[in-house]
Amino acid sequence: MDTIFNTAQLRKIVAQWRRNGERIAFVPTMGNLHDGHISLLKHARGMADRTVVSIFVNPIQFGKGEDYATYPSTLEADQDKLTRIGLDVLFAPNLKELYPGGMEEDTRVTVPSLSNILCGEYRPGHFTGVATVVTKLFFSVQPDYALFGEKDLQQLMVIRRMVDDLCIPIEIVGKPIIREADGLAMSSRNSYLNDDERTIAPIIHQTLKRASTAANVPNADFREIEASCFARLKESGFKPEYFSIRRSSDLMEATLGDRELSILTAAWLGNARLIDNIQVNVDE
Ligand code: PAF
Repeated sequence: MDTIFNTAQLRKIVAQWRRNGERIAFVPTMGNLHDGHISLLKHARGMADRTVVSIFVNPIQFGKGEDYATYPSTLEADQDKLTRIGLDVLFAPNLKELYPGGMEEDTRVTVPSLSNILCGEYRPGHFTGVATVVTKLFFSVQPDYALFGEKDLQQLMVIRRMVDDLCIPIEIVGKPIIREADGLAMSSRNSYLNDDERTIAPIIHQTLKRASTAANVPNADFREIEASCFARLKESGFKPEYFSIRRSSDLMEATLGDRELSILTAAWLGNARLIDNIQVNVDE
């Protein structure tokens, strides 16, 4: 696997692949790779002739006081893991490469309908930061497919919408959440949990499962389920931001009669902001 730091060099490699008629799959990451990333990367490798992974910790998707400065940087360990999977290229641009004109006045890409709800309400500007950097990465790598994990469901939907709205010819592929044996969704930020917090953390998934059962009964009161699950997380030691039952198609608040639901939550546990979600197909 080659590690490429420079966009012009990456484009030359990609151009050669394209001349050979090869298909390209791409997985953007911020590094500190865990088994969730590895699973995405293996899917990517299986669906195309060439696979590119990027590692770039994107400053503009972090708010003031968030963990940009302390976000775990583990490039060498990541490279070892990637070499073992057998990918073609690791693209690891530096700040100047992706933000040549600086970050303040840089062009932004915004998906207004999905960016200010749920996580966007608590992390203003976050999804604009994500959409902007993913656009830059897409134009650098020019893949046929790009793969994202469904743990970041709102992010996945922002990117799908962005690609549709901007007519970007890339197929977005979402892949199911990979969990630890006790149900905790894998995340780079799980490393912020101390031992006590780590034993509490799976309650977030248990609470989502409980909500999904409660939502799948005739005349379920979605607002009541949200409130009781929010309270349960609080009693268990979390500081929840939201616990919300949404319509899967557009992440608007679900009402009775909606059949495809996404239940999403974000909650702090110590220094870790955990997010998770579950899909529910309401029985006829
Ligand atoms: O999900 C992530 O790791 C990041 O938000 C992404 C998509 C790599 C953009 O920086």
